[in-house]
Amino acid sequence: MSRRRVRYASQKPQQSLFPFGKELARRAANRERELVRTVIYPGSFDPFTNGHLDVVERAAKLFDCVVVAVASNDAKRPLFTLAERRRMAVSALKSLPSVEVETFDGLLVEYAQRRGACAVIRGLRAVSDFEFEFQMALMNRKLNQRLETIFMMPKGAYTFLSSKLVKEVARLGGDVSPFVPAHVEKALKAKLKPRRR
Ligand code: PNS
Repeated sequence: MSRRRVRYASQKPQQSLFPFGKELARRAANRERELVRTVIYPGSFDPFTNGHLDVVERAAKLFDCVVVAVASNDAKRPLFTLAERRRMAVSALKSLPSVEVETFDGLLVEYAQRRGACAVIRGLRAVSDFEFEFQMALMNRKLNQRLETIFMMPKGAYTFLSSKLVKEVARLGGDVSPFVPAHVEKALKAKLKPRRR
């Protein structure tokens, strides 16, 4: 006996045999989305470090398009504004043609869906990162089963590096030039300059 399932008309919208106009454009856009493999690299990037740059360069070798998504994350009380963080990332990544920088707020999974991304990249530096990253990856999977999380390890020399430590070193007058691009170092100095009364 044939086991083919009957598909009722109400289950799937009928597709026109002779599409035109908007329908044609929609189908072309869908086809393009399927061909271009986009990955999202989300973070606070407060500020963008050489460790972030290393991860983006690795991701750009694997995906057609890498979207660096700067989260507004107001709850974390960032040192730099969203626009400043975006600008610093743009400037650090200008030599990579397949990389875009955007800002987002709200749920990461919803943003990733809007961008047609198949995966999210997160940098994993040490075992201490793992617990939080694991929780976040599984929560995101619960919210959207089709979105994969991929962990990438930066170069060994950056495994101790974090935006938080860079800010602390800069605040206390230490040299951060080995850890961030030159324009970020400049921005840190300007932001942390003691104000005259
Ligand atoms: O650089 P960070 O601060 O570690 O990045 C954290 C970030 C921005 C990736 C995370 O807070 C996030 O995804 N925020 C968006 C809101 C969201 O989707 N929250 C649920 C995550 S499980």
